[in-house]
Amino acid sequence: MMKGGGGVNLYERSRAKNQPHHLPRFLFITVVVAFSIVLIWYWEKAPLLTTLFPSHAQLLNLFPAAGDVKVKQVTTDLREAQGVVNISPPPLTSNNASSYFDTRGNKGVLDLVSPAPPPFDISTTAHENTTDIVKESVPSQVSEKNSDAKPPKQQIVEPVAPNKLNAPVEREGDGVSMSNVEKQACNYGKGRWVKDDSRPLYSGFGCKQWLSGMWACRLTQRTDFGYEKLKWQPKDCKMDDFTGPNFLKRMQDKTLAFIGDSLGRQQFQSLMCMITGGEERHDVEDVGKKYGLVKARRAVRPDGWAYRFPITNTTILYYWSASLCELDPIDPINGTTYFAMHLDRPPAFLRRYISRFNVLVLNTGHHWNRGKINANRWVMYVGGKRNTDKRIAEINNAKNLTIHSIIKWVNGELPKYPGLKAFYRSISPRHFFNGDWNSGGTCDSTTPGSLEVLQDESTDSVASGAVKGTDVKLLDITALSQVRDEGHISRYSIKATPGVQDCLHWCLPGIPDTWNELLFTQI
Ligand SMILES: *[C@@H]1O[C@H](CO)[C@@H](O)[C@H](O)[C@H]1NC(C)=O
Ligand SMILES: *[C@@H]1O[C@H](CO)[C@@H](O)[C@H](O)[C@H]1NC(C)=O
Ligand SMILES: *[C@@H]1O[C@H](CO)[C@@H](O)[C@H](O)[C@H]1NC(C)=O
Ligand SMILES: *[C@@H]1O[C@H](CO)[C@@H](O)[C@H](O)[C@H]1NC(C)=O
Ligand SMILES: *[C@@H]1O[C@H](CO)[C@@H](O)[C@H](O)[C@H]1NC(C)=O
Repeated sequence: MMKGGGGVNLYERSRAKNQPHHLPRFLFITVVVAFSIVLIWYWEKAPLLTTLFPSHAQLLNLFPAAGDVKVKQVTTDLREAQGVVNISPPPLTSNNASSYFDTRGNKGVLDLVSPAPPPFDISTTAHENTTDIVKESVPSQVSEKNSDAKPPKQQIVEPVAPNKLNAPVEREGDGVSMSNVEKQACNYGKGRWVKDDSRPLYSGFGCKQWLSGMWACRLTQRTDFGYEKLKWQPKDCKMDDFTGPNFLKRMQDKTLAFIGDSLGRQQFQSLMCMITGGEERHDVEDVGKKYGLVKARRAVRPDGWAYRFPITNTTILYYWSASLCELDPIDPINGTTYFAMHLDRPPAFLRRYISRFNVLVLNTGHHWNRGKINANRWVMYVGGKRNTDKRIAEINNAKNLTIHSIIKWVNGELPKYPGLKAFYRSISPRHFFNGDWNSGGTCDSTTPGSLEVLQDESTDSVASGAVKGTDVKLLDITALSQVRDEGHISRYSIKATPGVQDCLHWCLPGIPDTWNELLFTQI
């Protein structure tokens, strides 16, 4: 509000300057005097104003323009190679993988070739194949084959050691501007859901340009849509009103990157719909190529997407990295090779492109179970060597190690990129009641479990522990999403299998929209 007010003042000021000769002299003097008062007042208040309401220009200063990076044609070729390695189990014959490795000469590029498992959740079990795009919605939990599938749940109920994550004192001396400290003092994760008839921010019948059909619950048999009408209201602080133009203005000449699993992809699609209001936009450019995000010949989809809004030169991208760590083929010439899953190394994509990002949102969590790791042929590595430590090999510890490692790595990069704001998004809760994904677990309630989050600490203790003492911010969405079990896809997936519900992904529009409102407020 004040930000808008400031804009109006400036506007009036420049208009006044052009008008005095048309005005009677006394009016001119009055204007000048009034104007001086405003000016003096502004100077006096400036420190406070700029603290609480950074101006557009100041926001821009927080994001120095990233240099344009030339994209080599080789990138495309590498993606092609990757697709072949990834998607088709038969060994490489037509592509000379070893020559790719030879010619790279640069670790970042090298890692682009690492055949990350086929995109998204579809191919994490051996019997699934990548020709069936709609399978993506459910299999994420469908392929959680064993008791390892529980960690997210355990995290949520785990008692959390008191941690003053959101207390301002924790953020002191972290080198960020005062405005960030002020905002950090606010715990956006504590508050309540309130009914708001202006929701949702886009129609679930629209946004076909960005929203996957499998997540558009309006296009399914579902008949209750009360979940679309709730707005998150933090207890002690105000959220900025999200509008497409506001967002784009704040992100002028900037790039926002989501890197994570399918829940990160949901957040990405949600943001694209929120920015466009779900309206078709023909001006938006596909700039995936600039990030090597092109569909390999036999792949169902690329490993991510990047779109640029020319009107403000804003790029929004998503890159699929379910484990949030580097994956390298152990035997690069063998199409069915195992992959070194370097628990302590960031994904190559992130290392390669971090210099271009102004806002980074990371997440992981639901792929950390033995079933998925085995199905993907991932083998844990630590310190560049195959892990032999039984304690680390335990899934929760391995996940914890990776989350700590990536946050530590990003934190170490921040001084190099003063304009970069990095967020780690806490785990998105799953809600299988009366069973798990494969034993009749359901989430078919049509009303929220509760409307309120009262606790101060994050319920994702791994994430909150990992960001503690770093300049990486926690985008804490766990507890506020935890009370919204009615917002999942539930039984309404496009290809509903009797008895199997998707209690992991969310209907869109829906809960991930709120994650983006929280993100918008904090950038
Ligand atoms: C693969 O590349 C290597 C190194 O560039 C080369 O020596 C070899 O002949 C190539 N093999 C094929 C089948 O193209
Ligand atoms: C792959 O999926 C398609 C569509 O579900 C199915 O028709 C086909 O038989 C599957 N192929 C394999 C090898 O499983
Ligand atoms: C767009 O923004 C980037 C920084 O993100 C900058 O390098 C580039 O010059 C801008 N392009 C235009 C046309 O302004
Ligand atoms: C390829 O790797 C798989 C799994 O590691 C192994 O079983 C197979 O023998 C390898 N094939 C070749 C040709 O090396
Ligand atoms: C997670 O890893 C960090 C750093 O290695 C360690 O301090 C912490 O105790 C671990 N937490 C759990 C729950 O294992």
